[in-house]
Amino acid sequence: MRAVVYHGAREVSVEEVPDARIERPTDVLVKVTSTCICGSDLHMYEGRTSAEAGKVLGHESVGEVVEIGPAVDRIKVGDRVCVPFNIACGFCRNCERGETAYCLTTNPGQAGAAYGYAGMGPYRGGQAELLRVPYGDVNCLRLPPDAADRENDYAMLADVFPTGYHATELAGVQPGDSVAVFGAGPVGLMAAYSAMLRGASMVLVVDHQSDRLRLAEKIGAIAVDDRQGDPVDQILDHTRGMGTDKGCECVGWQAHDSEGHEHPASTMNNVVRSVRAAGAIGAVGVFVLSDPRSPDTLMRKGEVAFDMGMFFQKGLRIGAGQTSVKAYNRRLRDLIAAGRAQPSFLVSHNLGLDEAPDAYLHFDERADGWTKVVLHP
Ligand SMILES: NC(=O)c1ccc[n+]([C@@H]2O[C@H](COP(=O)([O-])OP(=O)(O)OC[C@H]3O[C@@H](n4cnc5c(N)ncnc54)[C@H](O)[C@@H]3O)[C@@H](O)[C@H]2O)c1
Ligand SMILES: [Zn+2]
Ligand SMILES: [Zn+2]
Repeated sequence: MRAVVYHGAREVSVEEVPDARIERPTDVLVKVTSTCICGSDLHMYEGRTSAEAGKVLGHESVGEVVEIGPAVDRIKVGDRVCVPFNIACGFCRNCERGETAYCLTTNPGQAGAAYGYAGMGPYRGGQAELLRVPYGDVNCLRLPPDAADRENDYAMLADVFPTGYHATELAGVQPGDSVAVFGAGPVGLMAAYSAMLRGASMVLVVDHQSDRLRLAEKIGAIAVDDRQGDPVDQILDHTRGMGTDKGCECVGWQAHDSEGHEHPASTMNNVVRSVRAAGAIGAVGVFVLSDPRSPDTLMRKGEVAFDMGMFFQKGLRIGAGQTSVKAYNRRLRDLIAAGRAQPSFLVSHNLGLDEAPDAYLHFDERADGWTKVVLHP
């Protein structure tokens, strides 16, 4: 099969690798029809993770089931499915509680497994013609009959739509809330969109990428361009000096200023400064255990200079971490099927698998107009 293979910093290629196949009776084999490039893939692409050369990338996959193992009951050959980026067993202590991002059995010694990702187990990714889905009955979300017509919408269910929603869930966004979102990448835009689905009265989205801020405005958010001055001051101006009820961090440890200089604690501290006393924060941007290549000495050991004083003073609550996609994907799928949500507004490029190296390059540069890439193997 053809697949996108990681070789080292800013080096990916499309090449022939052994076909994915059924390895265990509970596996499902999916012929991938859509697979996205994620901001998370860029951490690996930039050589900022422990990803090893030879890894097949990709964790946002939609496709058609072409084979099932003998112990698969629910999923049938021919089903159109969306595959969450987490690989869950469904029966461990954490999966039982719905915390499939912290599955205890699929990546032994650690909590949580994923396709084609550094430190998330030996699984090959979905930027390929075929994908092996372990525990297929647990991990495949069946799509409705309009699956092919709305494929780009359903492709967002593998990660970014549930992850944006997770940020608003961790922050406890309620009808009428004002919400500040840091980052207008796919995850930040999905957090803004989810905040609106939950009835927010005002959503402010901070970034320094004009194309992404325009998309935020297109869905009814207020764009806050941090090139125009301190984003927190701008948020306070919009909220009569009070700050927003809730905040979402959707950037992570590679947060940087508009010149590209990294300040790993900047967005976390900006959310703390932007949210009013007794408010709450959802932090879904990734922070890693260590990053030897970080220009910030604390971040090299996975630490940031978090403004604990302000956080405590304001009595804020915070939730953080990977998204347990299965906690949300069924309900978000039904919003798409009912015509109530159209997350594909993000998608700027529909390309063939062979165009992946070029797409990685442009998406990584945050080149104007490259907001979300969907590859069609
Ligand atoms: N928690 C999860 O389960 C989960 C899932 C998917 C992605 N993520 C993470 O979410 C983060 C965002 O993902 P994405 O796909 O949107 O990535 P992305 O890199 O495309 O978007 C990040 C955006 O943040 C902006 N940004 C950078 N520094 C900023 C700053 N100081 N202030 C405001 N904006 C700033 C960038 O310009 C960019 O538009 C990444 O860290 C990714 O790994 C987490
Ligand atoms: Zn992703
Ligand atoms: Zn489990």
